[in-house]
Amino acid sequence: MPRIFSGIQPSGELHIGNWLGAVQNWVNLQRSYQSLICIVDLHAITGKYDKDTLPQRTRDMAVGLLAAGIDPDQATLFVQSHVPEHSELQWLLNSVTPLGELERMTQFKDKSQKFESVPAGLLNYPVLMAADILLYRADLVPVGEDQIQHLELTREIARKWNSEFAGGEKFFPEPHPILTEAKRITGLDGQAKMSKSLGNTIALLDGPEEIWQKLRPAKTDPARVTRKDPGNPEVCNIYHLHKYFSPPATVGAVAENCSGAKWGCLDCKRVLADNMIATLAPIRDRARQFQEAPGRVDQILAEGALGASGLASETMREVRGRMGFLPAPSRLPTGSGHPG
Ligand code: TYM
Repeated sequence: MPRIFSGIQPSGELHIGNWLGAVQNWVNLQRSYQSLICIVDLHAITGKYDKDTLPQRTRDMAVGLLAAGIDPDQATLFVQSHVPEHSELQWLLNSVTPLGELERMTQFKDKSQKFESVPAGLLNYPVLMAADILLYRADLVPVGEDQIQHLELTREIARKWNSEFAGGEKFFPEPHPILTEAKRITGLDGQAKMSKSLGNTIALLDGPEEIWQKLRPAKTDPARVTRKDPGNPEVCNIYHLHKYFSPPATVGAVAENCSGAKWGCLDCKRVLADNMIATLAPIRDRARQFQEAPGRVDQILAEGALGASGLASETMREVRGRMGFLPAPSRLPTGSGHPG
């Protein structure tokens, strides 16, 4: 069975961009692929972060993913820092990662501008991502469009490592991305990618009132100033969101009523809000059940870490050997990251 790996940061909010761009694919694909879904807390410390809220954000992300339909009987859901081999492989992969490629990454260029003193972790972020994927020798990586460049670098790192240490054998597969139709959901500002850090999101677990309060002021076609102006649905983010939450007949009606100036933007948003609320209601209900059973969530994450660790230690045994390290003494305590 081909293997899938994907990850998400414990940002404190699973939003509809994450859901439409990646998580829905994880849920749909878990039946047909061996799936590893990772909450990447090590990636979340590459900038300034709040250590006190990190544990809760990590649990909340697990709740969100389970509520969205990740099934622990089908997929391995786990927390990155619970499997120390991620960090170890990252260090080893540094030896075949060109510095120039890291400096060229768009996300690094954007994010590093926000720092007076840039943390090295920000530069090395994509190497940890490569380690995440290659540790499980995954074939496919379902992600949104913003991760494509990192995935290309992962392929290059795999190629270089294979040629250096595996005599050209494809020990690490070169992983391929899988995108959804919603590979880049625009935020409620109508411009930037939907992202927690930009405050332009709707959270997957937002309630009816929160959804409406966020949609109400959301940007629409900028050229439509009054209700009487005909709008252009193609340039309106609200119209695009309808495609993911409203039935096709409604999407058609929205386009017609917008371009014919029959509906105002608020009318259109109200219909979207109602459909979004109805779509997300079952997810919120499931989330409530998991929130009331934190022990169950911790147990799922513990089982996930165990399953992932088994695969990770197999890969690392091979990797350490192929990279020429002296085998560790076999009587080191377990959990040292060096199973003899
Ligand atoms: P993260 O936490 O930013 O986002 C998780 C997933 O959601 C997708 N996504 C979006 N898709 C469409 N529209 C949007 N507005 C939108 N915002 C986010 C992302 O593309 C991603 O698939 N570096 C990764 C996490 C990661 C990872 C990995 C992913 C770490 N290791 C290994 C794949 C494989 C990140 O920060 O995703």
